[in-house]
Amino acid sequence: MIPVNEPLLDGNERKYLLECIDSGWISSEGPFIRRFEENFAVAVGRRFAIAVANGSLALDAAVAALRLEPGDEVILPSFTIISCAAAVVRARAIPVVVDSDPKTWNMDVSLIERCVTRRTKAIMAVHIYGLPCDMDPILALAGKYGLKIIEDAAEMHGQTYRGKPCGSFGDLSIFSFYPNKLVTTGEGGMIVTDSAELAEICRSLRNLCFIPARRFVHEELGWNMRMSNLQAALGIAQLERLSEFVERKRAMGGLYTQLLDDIPGIQLPLPETPYAKNIYWVFGIVLRDSVPFDAKEAMERLGAAGVGTRPFFWPMNEQPVLRGMGLFGNVQCPISSNIARRGFYLPSGLALSESQIHTVAGIVREILR
Ligand SMILES: Cc1ncc(COP(=O)(O)O)c(C=O)c1O
Repeated sequence: MIPVNEPLLDGNERKYLLECIDSGWISSEGPFIRRFEENFAVAVGRRFAIAVANGSLALDAAVAALRLEPGDEVILPSFTIISCAAAVVRARAIPVVVDSDPKTWNMDVSLIERCVTRRTKAIMAVHIYGLPCDMDPILALAGKYGLKIIEDAAEMHGQTYRGKPCGSFGDLSIFSFYPNKLVTTGEGGMIVTDSAELAEICRSLRNLCFIPARRFVHEELGWNMRMSNLQAALGIAQLERLSEFVERKRAMGGLYTQLLDDIPGIQLPLPETPYAKNIYWVFGIVLRDSVPFDAKEAMERLGAAGVGTRPFFWPMNEQPVLRGMGLFGNVQCPISSNIARRGFYLPSGLALSESQIHTVAGIVREILR
């Protein structure tokens, strides 16, 4: 089986992990945490970085830090992971979804302004699968209506928008370090910001909101979302190789594109937009209408032939758990709805070899014949 994701851990990961074990520093109090936060802030060009247990919790903290009122609205893409909408709902705010651009699979920025109401407080800009969403119009709308921006750069390590790092655009921006990401810590996440005040709130939320005056007394409910020193050790080693990893992903995406480009039944990721070159976090494909079966069937056929795949996200406005809360009413997002049913991604991990890409491409061609 060619796995859908296999990380590369052959740099300083082992060395730094052994340092943790030899020194006995394994908890979040260990010295690698501060170093990882500092290195990461520099890599993204931000003043503050707060390491947390995963990207989903990073979103929870980021949304909570905005101090929204019940009933406030946050605009976000329909086509994303549940963590985005869940963070909004947990803050007792209302997620308002925007459909996708059919070419980039990112939020269609031309649809955002019509969603702005008196209650809108923030836009959650999520970069999907390797291309950033178009930030300029989002920043302009935020300026026009006085909205905050949460930038979900979970998948976007090393990517830039018009030359500026992804993760440098939000009032708060977040990353994930799950093993399929370009920088992994096993599980992990990071919140970055330039605001000392927001950074302080996130640090407090990360650590159960202990008050400085008296530990174990709390004026607010936080989470334990601390990252361990072991995870930070991995993260530092991974971050050292980020530009090499981005190049590697681009080469993999380029090879897939070259091998699959002439197949009429599939839409491939755009190699570039006017504002970014794809980093192919994952190599997604969408079956065109001419293909007489959907992504589920294609993934079954690929699985039977030894190729691991993952389905695309499922739209937020079609999530049973959110609809059960009375959210989204008659909202339709036809583009997200289509790509959710006809899209999936191919093996895309950093450890994937060229010959495996050739094998996968050959099998894709075969099942679409
Ligand atoms: C866009 C996006 N946001 C948030 C997350 C959540 O990150 P984590 O899996 O670390 O909780 C992911 C996870 O892959 C993601 O793709």
